[in-house]
Amino acid sequence: MKRITVIIFALAIGFSCATPSGIATTSTDATMNSFIDELMAKMTLEEKIGQLNLPGSGDITTGQAASSDIAKKIREGKVGGLFNIKSVARIRDVQKVAIEESRLKIPLIFGMDVIHGYQTVFPIPLGLSCTWDMNAIERSARIAAQEASADGICWTFSPMVDLARDPRWGRIAEGSGEDPYLGSEIAKSMVRGYQGDDLKKNNTIMSCVKHFALYGAAEGGRDYNTTDMSRIRMYNEYFPPYKAAVDAGVGSVMTSFNEIDGIPASGNRWLMTEVLRNQWNFNGFVVTDYTAINEMIDHGMGDLQTVSAMSLRAGVDMDMVGEGFLTTLKKSLDEGKVTRAQIDVACRRILEAKYKLGLFEDPFRYCDEQRAKTEIFTDGNRKVARQIASESFVLLKNQGNVLPLKRSGTIALIGPLADNKENMPGTWSVAADFSKATSLLAGLKEVAGPTVKILTARGSNLEADSLLEERAGMFGKSLRRDSRPVNIIMQEALDIASQSDVIVAALGESSEMSGESSSRTNIEIPQIQKDLLAALVKTGKPVVLVLFTGRPLALKWEQENVPAILNVWFAGSEAGYAISDVLFGDVNPSGKLTTTFPQNIGQIPLYYNHKNTGRPLPEGQWFQKFRSNYLDVSNEPLYPFGFGLSYTNFTYSNVKLSSNKMNSTGNITASVTVTNAGSREGMEVVQLYIRDLVGSVTRPVKELKDFQKINLKPGESREVTFTISVDDLKFYDYDLNFVAEPGEFHVFIGGNSRDVKQAGFVLE
Ligand code: BGC
Repeated sequence: MKRITVIIFALAIGFSCATPSGIATTSTDATMNSFIDELMAKMTLEEKIGQLNLPGSGDITTGQAASSDIAKKIREGKVGGLFNIKSVARIRDVQKVAIEESRLKIPLIFGMDVIHGYQTVFPIPLGLSCTWDMNAIERSARIAAQEASADGICWTFSPMVDLARDPRWGRIAEGSGEDPYLGSEIAKSMVRGYQGDDLKKNNTIMSCVKHFALYGAAEGGRDYNTTDMSRIRMYNEYFPPYKAAVDAGVGSVMTSFNEIDGIPASGNRWLMTEVLRNQWNFNGFVVTDYTAINEMIDHGMGDLQTVSAMSLRAGVDMDMVGEGFLTTLKKSLDEGKVTRAQIDVACRRILEAKYKLGLFEDPFRYCDEQRAKTEIFTDGNRKVARQIASESFVLLKNQGNVLPLKRSGTIALIGPLADNKENMPGTWSVAADFSKATSLLAGLKEVAGPTVKILTARGSNLEADSLLEERAGMFGKSLRRDSRPVNIIMQEALDIASQSDVIVAALGESSEMSGESSSRTNIEIPQIQKDLLAALVKTGKPVVLVLFTGRPLALKWEQENVPAILNVWFAGSEAGYAISDVLFGDVNPSGKLTTTFPQNIGQIPLYYNHKNTGRPLPEGQWFQKFRSNYLDVSNEPLYPFGFGLSYTNFTYSNVKLSSNKMNSTGNITASVTVTNAGSREGMEVVQLYIRDLVGSVTRPVKELKDFQKINLKPGESREVTFTISVDDLKFYDYDLNFVAEPGEFHVFIGGNSRDVKQAGFVLE
C-alpha cells in the first residue's frame, strides 16, 4: 500500500485563498483550497469530468477488482467514487487501482445506503422517529458510522428527511413522518451522529441528506410520481428538515427523482443553487439520485446531452450511475452549453469532500481489517440496538391490560411473521446479514424463560395472491410461502390457539411491502391475515396483535375487535428480543406515532397540522351539511400524531404560562405538571403545540414546537417547562419572509396532538 500523505502538506503551507463561490475561508479551508488548486492545475478536462462520475459497481468481487470494467475507468481517471460495495477487502482492492494505477492517484469516495444501521440494524427510520429520543437517534447513527467506516465506507446516503403525509407511499418507512419540526430535530441528530465532530476521524462518515426535495409528496403516493405544491408550503412544511441538515453541516445532498414547479429536481437551478446554496449557504456537494439525470429524458426535458448540461448548470456536482456527465459534458463545453468554470466548481466540490474525509492523507483510512473484525455487530452495539428498538414500538391499544404478558402458562405465537429472520431488519438494510437477525419466535423463547410454554404456527401466508407475496419478498426476504390449502394452515393455528392462555398474532406487512417502489393502494393488513386474525379473536382467548408495518395502516376493524395492538414496525437485527422485552414488560413501551393513522384510506392525506378551512367541522362532531367533512366517515384519525400508550398512565395538570404577553424580543415559559398515575415506571413524551390564531396567511390549527421525554416512577410528578421564544412563532409569509406576526396564540401541551391542555398569550 502506498501512502500519499506527504504531498498534501508540502503543497499547502502558508497559502490562503477564497473558494470560487467567494465564501470566506478558515485557515484549514485555505490549506485545503491551495491543495485542491494545485491538484486541479494538473488535471485534464476529462479527469475533472471523471470526478463527477459515480458509476454503479455491481461487478466487483473480492480479488477481481483489477480486472473489472470499472477498474478500466478508474485507471483512466473516469470515476469519482463507487457505492454499495461491501467489505474492506473489496474496497481496498478498488482503491488500490485508483491510487496505484491512475495518473493523478486521486482516491475514490465509497458510499453506501447505511440507512438505519450497518450490520447492527436499528429500526426503520419511521420506527426510530417514534422514539422521540434524539440521543438514541444520534447514537444509532454514530454506531452505524462506526460499523460502516470499519468496513471501508466513508459516505452514507442518509438521512432521508422527506416529509410524508401519504401512507400509500412505500418510502414513508424511510423518513421521520409528517412533522417539519420533529423531522428537523431528527435530521440534525443523524447528521451529528454520522459526521461526529471531525470528518477526518476514521470512524466518522460523510452524511448525505436526501431526497432534495419534496419526494414525499408524490401524487397518489405512487413512487417517483409528480409533485406540485405552493412555495409557501415548501418553505413552511417540506423544506425545514433539509435545511436543518444543511445547518447541521451535512457534507452532501442528494437530488430527488420528482419534478418541482415543472422542472425535475436534478435540473432545477432554483432549487439546487438559489435555495440550497444562496439562501441556505450549503457548501458541500450535490449528487443525483440513481440515474436521475437520464430520467429527465423521460420527464420530457430533452436528450442526454441536454439534460446533463442542464443538471450541471443547475448546480449538481456528481452523477449517480447514469454517466450523462461522463459522456456528454465535453461536447457541451465545446458547444458552449456549459462553461469550464461550471465543471471546475463541481470537480472542486468533490475533491473538497475527499479532502475533508482525509482521503488524500490516507486513501485507506477506512480500510482497517482489524476494525472490520472487531467493531462490527458487537455485543455492545447489539445491546444498544435492542434497547432503542424497544423504545420505537407504539402501543396502540391495551384493553383489560392484556399486556404485559405473564411469565407463566402457554402462549400461541401465530402468523407469517412469527418465525422469520429475514424480514426483521426492514427495508434498506443493505449491509445486514439476515441470518444474524433474531426472529420473534427466537426472541420470545429466550426472553420468556423456562416457565412459559410457547407453541407456534404460521396460520396464513402473507398474501392470498402468490404474485403479490413474491413482490413483497424481494431481496432475499422470502416469507417461505406455504403451499397447503388455506383452511389447513389456519386450522393448525386454531389448534394451538385452543391450547393456549394468550395468543400473540405476528401479522402485517413484510419488510419489502414498504420502501422504494413499494407503494400500496390498500393500506390494510392483507385480507388473508385479517381472516386469520378474526378467527383467532373468535376463539375468545385474549389476542395481542404484534403489528409489523413500514407505514401507517388503516386498522379500524382491529381497533374495534382486538384487545391489544403493539405496533413494532421493522425493528432491526435485534427485533425478536426487543419485541419480547416489551411484551413481557421488561421494558415499558414509550413510542409515540410520528404519522397520523387514518380510519380508512379515503381520508388521505390526513395530518394533524392541517389548515382550518373556512368551513371547519366543530371538533368532536361528525357530519354537518355544508361543513368540510365526509358523509361516511368522521374527520378524526384512528390514532392521532403523537399518540402512544404505556403500561402506566400519565395525567397532566393545566398549562401555566409565565405571562400572557410576549414582546418581540422576549420569551415566556409554559409549564405543566405530569404525574405517573399508574403502578409502573414509564417514559412519557410531553409535547408542546402552538396555534397562531390570525396571520397574514392562513396558519395550521396546531404545530409541534417542542417536546421532552421524561421518565417517571409510579406516583412521581414532574413539572415540565418549555421556553417559547419569538423564533418559535415565525413562519414564511406570502413573500417568503420568515416572520412572527403580533397577535393571539394558543399553547397546547399533552401526551399526543389531540388530548391536550390549553392556554393562550398575545405577541405584542
Ligand atoms: C434511492 C436512493 C439511494 C440510491 C442509491 C436510489 O434508488 O432512491 O435513496 O440512496 O438508490 O442506492
